[in-house]
Amino acid sequence: MAHTNNTLFIGKVQHHFEQLDSTNSEAHKLILKGNVIEGTLLSTDFQTGGKGQRGNTWESTEGLNLLMSVILKPNFVLAKNQFDINQFVSLALIDLLTNLLPKLPVKIKWPNDIYIGHKKVAGILIQNILKGAQINHCIIGIGLNVNQVEFSKDLLNPTSLSLVSKNYFDLKDLRSELASDLEKRYLQLKNRSENLRPEYLDNLYAKDQVKTFEDVQRKKAFSGSIRDIDLSGKLIIEVLEGMDEKFMRYNFKEVRIKQI
Ligand code: BTN
Repeated sequence: MAHTNNTLFIGKVQHHFEQLDSTNSEAHKLILKGNVIEGTLLSTDFQTGGKGQRGNTWESTEGLNLLMSVILKPNFVLAKNQFDINQFVSLALIDLLTNLLPKLPVKIKWPNDIYIGHKKVAGILIQNILKGAQINHCIIGIGLNVNQVEFSKDLLNPTSLSLVSKNYFDLKDLRSELASDLEKRYLQLKNRSENLRPEYLDNLYAKDQVKTFEDVQRKKAFSGSIRDIDLSGKLIIEVLEGMDEKFMRYNFKEVRIKQI
């Protein structure tokens, strides 16, 4: 067990494993045992069953990248506002990466992929455990590609901090920096000191640019521009061509950007 010193609670309790099935699954087991301390951080060098969004797997070569999960108890967030969690976590990663690489275009690809230019550098998998209308526990899983420079051909458009900067990064330093960025953004959310949505929007990939989208259910392509996110996190796209409606509003998985 190690300790980070620059936070109040995120990462104060840390467990690092050489190998795990998945840090999110391990976090889930810990929650089921009961009495888990808020802010507990689990990390590993290698996952045998790393989980991505939409039931995908998350690939990461041993010892090269950041693979971690943080357990929070955001019982002040209603289940219907769970997109608030996506927002604060995405912004914490933006904070971390813009500090490290100030000259590079770091963006959030809705709902919560982190891009540098047109390539994905980090993925976030948030699993909420609800109690009635509230979020009782939340597992925030983060995979950040750091020192890996070769990726499987099957991946769409991966990149890493080393690929974009030609530098080597210390994973422990990054982990504690990210813990501190997560804590700052989480406290902003908790204290309602700031509405995070404008900042999330400011950092949104492809916002106000003309792109081709695919409406997954209707199997239909159309052109338009991302204009906004509603309170539940739905993406609002203004249609240019290809749909009768002037605006389309989508949930996660219902739309994708076809041409990047
Ligand atoms: C995505 O599909 O973009 C989300 C990827 C999330 C990967 C991280 S790695 C650490 C944590 N443990 C997991 O099994 N998944 C998340």
